[in-house]
Amino acid sequence: MKLTILGGGGFRVPLVYGALLGDHAEGRVTQVVLHDLDAQRLSAVTRVLAEQAAGVPDAPEVTATTDLDEALRGADFVFSAIRVGGLEGRANDERVALAEGVLGQETVGAGGIAYGLRTVPVAVDIARRVARLAPDAWVINFTNPAGLVTEAMSRHLGDRVIGICDSPVGLGRRIARVLGVQNPAEAWIDYVGLNHLGWVRGLRVAGRDELPRLLDDPGLLGSFEEGKLFGVDWLRSLGAIPNEYLHYYYFNREAVRAYQEAGQTRGAFLRDQQARFYAEMRNPDASALKAWDATRAEREATYMAENRETAGAGERDADDLSGGYEKVALALMRAIARDERTTLILNVRNRSTLSVLDSEAVIEVPCLVDANGAHPVAVDPLPDHATGLVCAVKAVEREVLAAADSGSRTTAVKAFALHPLVDSVNVARRLVDGYTAVHPGLSYLK
Ligand code: G6P
Ligand code: MN
Repeated sequence: MKLTILGGGGFRVPLVYGALLGDHAEGRVTQVVLHDLDAQRLSAVTRVLAEQAAGVPDAPEVTATTDLDEALRGADFVFSAIRVGGLEGRANDERVALAEGVLGQETVGAGGIAYGLRTVPVAVDIARRVARLAPDAWVINFTNPAGLVTEAMSRHLGDRVIGICDSPVGLGRRIARVLGVQNPAEAWIDYVGLNHLGWVRGLRVAGRDELPRLLDDPGLLGSFEEGKLFGVDWLRSLGAIPNEYLHYYYFNREAVRAYQEAGQTRGAFLRDQQARFYAEMRNPDASALKAWDATRAEREATYMAENRETAGAGERDADDLSGGYEKVALALMRAIARDERTTLILNVRNRSTLSVLDSEAVIEVPCLVDANGAHPVAVDPLPDHATGLVCAVKAVEREVLAAADSGSRTTAVKAFALHPLVDSVNVARRLVDGYTAVHPGLSYLK
């Protein structure tokens, strides 16, 4: 089985390869093709993978190419994990937004819109090529903003593109852990929303909802990441546990201030950190795997550091440092390729799941997965406050898709202006000016 990874020179590729190395079953991936625009990044990551594969007799063969069409031909699965504009682009997304007093995070608010505007045209081009060159391939989209990018690709690939994110899984795992659930896989997590904009409303074990027990116990509630981030009182008011990215909404003022005051934005930190790693990989004597792992550990430890600081949440729990999105990706691929039926929280087309959205809107929801793909399960409606946010953000995503389609600057302004975290049409206009001035990838906006 052939797996093609777009953004194959990217920093998180060794996580995926590490997960593949642990799969020895019949029908596993035997061939990995890395595609990237940057040959140096490809050779750095290839070195890490070679060290990972040492001593594993059935390790998937790895090849690398800068030719996209060649990478796609004959692929059974395509992982799309690209970063249009690189981490320099991410840093610029943050800088321009923060200068206007709004959030520049890569998936939320103004930053997410800017990142979406330059990623959608590239993602659409990939989707069209997949449809032409590898029509039987399944595409698993990791590229942020994951919900929006998946929806853009689904217009060309239908249900054969599925978006993934590890944050709902991490959230479910943490809740199960504090509730003392022995095997988190046995719990049913009642979660729904958009990517980075969802809520856990229940966690059922043996048919009983255990979430009320958590909400009733301030000690337990304050003992894990989301409890520390949002505070016990707010979680009890909501009666649900929000995805960590909702911190940017519920505590927006504090988050913006913390990011403005930070010595460096997240994008700038990662840009410099990864530049050091890729530079080190030019030294043939360096241990690639060791350098990669040290860089990865530092990245994990500092994830959402400013948000945690404003909330006084302290360090991350050791159990939360392992990420896990490669596990979601592998479980999804296995379920489809080998009909290993399972349930995963994924980004798929809504169909009739949330009645307030149309059937084509990509949402994040538990899905049954089998050889026929991902099937969203029926869920209870969201409360009005959550529905309001979901509808507002989906409307913004639709303006982003329309702007990417038409190249209209006016539509791009509308996307920014309609976002609940952008508080003035004038700010939206200046954001479009600021972003088009720094991003060559936005030159299509006229
Ligand atoms: C979480 C999010 C991802 C994001 C990742 C890394 O897992 O769900 O969407 O890519 O964190 O965040 P970072 O700030 O380290 O790039
Ligand atoms: Mn994510």
